Amino acid sequence: MKGKRETRIFLKDYGIDLWEEKKIQDFRKALLDWYDQNKRHLPWRETRDPYKIWVSEIMLQQTQVATVIPYYLNFLKKFPTIKHLAEADTSSIEKAWEGLGYYSRVRNMREAARMIQVDFGGTFPRDYKAVRALKGIGPYTAGAIMSIAYNEAYPAVDGNVMRILARLFEIDLDIAEPKNRKVFEVLCQALISPDRPGDFNQALMDLGSDIEAARGYHVEDSPVKEFSGAYINDTMDRYPIKKRRVKVQKQTFKALIIEETNGRFLFKKRPKDGLLANFYMMPLLDEKEDVKAYLEALGFSNYLLGKKALGQVKHIFSHREWLIDCWYVQVDRLLELEPCEEWLWLSPNEFNSQAFPKPQHKIWELFTK
Ligand code: ADE
Repeated sequence: MKGKRETRIFLKDYGIDLWEEKKIQDFRKALLDWYDQNKRHLPWRETRDPYKIWVSEIMLQQTQVATVIPYYLNFLKKFPTIKHLAEADTSSIEKAWEGLGYYSRVRNMREAARMIQVDFGGTFPRDYKAVRALKGIGPYTAGAIMSIAYNEAYPAVDGNVMRILARLFEIDLDIAEPKNRKVFEVLCQALISPDRPGDFNQALMDLGSDIEAARGYHVEDSPVKEFSGAYINDTMDRYPIKKRRVKVQKQTFKALIIEETNGRFLFKKRPKDGLLANFYMMPLLDEKEDVKAYLEALGFSNYLLGKKALGQVKHIFSHREWLIDCWYVQVDRLLELEPCEEWLWLSPNEFNSQAFPKPQHKIWELFTK
């Protein structure tokens, strides 16, 4: 988008009437004054180091602020610089991420750290395009880093910001439709404070997490309610428009908690593609698969106690829900497996040598509780 005029015309095409310059300035002031008084004090707000801000933004992508704080502090203790992260081995980064989920986030981060080592001599890039080209960094994260670390006027538009903007301007675009994000970015770019873009973006984040939350908002407390079309016209409940519902696909599995006579448990490495790729979990069978046949195929012909149903655990991924029926099986002899990557016998005191995915923790909790 080139000039202010083009921006207005572009937005008009989507039914958005951009405010006059004076109103935009008043809006910035109201928002930033409120932020100065009410901002949340968060560890990543005490630094301008792009590496640290990057870590925080990646963690915050799918995880709440309160959960992120201890992970953030621990991660930076373990990997204080880009170089440390670039040189870290997979199990240590996964261990530091254990419990946050969506592990591809941290694997991508390490890959990006390696790119930075090679292409930028270990210094986080300053140029938007270079930042955006790093693995795992999309427009939101790039905008957050550019604005917070470098004070450059880039918008950082996520679902929270779209919700706020949709209410301010009564925007009839579906915020769940990826192609509409661009419109919100152009709008945010027109509103952002050129002097304090990082604070402007973070003020919107704070507003979106509480006063302008998706549910349970209390707009009466909003520092910018006089600017809000939805507030003035009493249409808060209509905005944002969010139509596309991702259908959650349910899948049922059986997990086998297989214990041998010396108290070790059997783990199997997951396939290298798909959900929870490459992680060790207790064997997970399709719901229709026969347990006895599975055990026999592995060489356990006479397991001792039969099998015992323990109950079900549930784990929800973004588009998928796993229901796992857990079965305990005691076997009377060691499986004659070649030592190999695919299978692992571990006793409980060896469990912390591995990062296990959340569903595996749930299976173990059900078993031990
Ligand atoms: N959510 C995403 N980024 C954030 C930040 N910098 N501060 C607070 N919440 C956030």
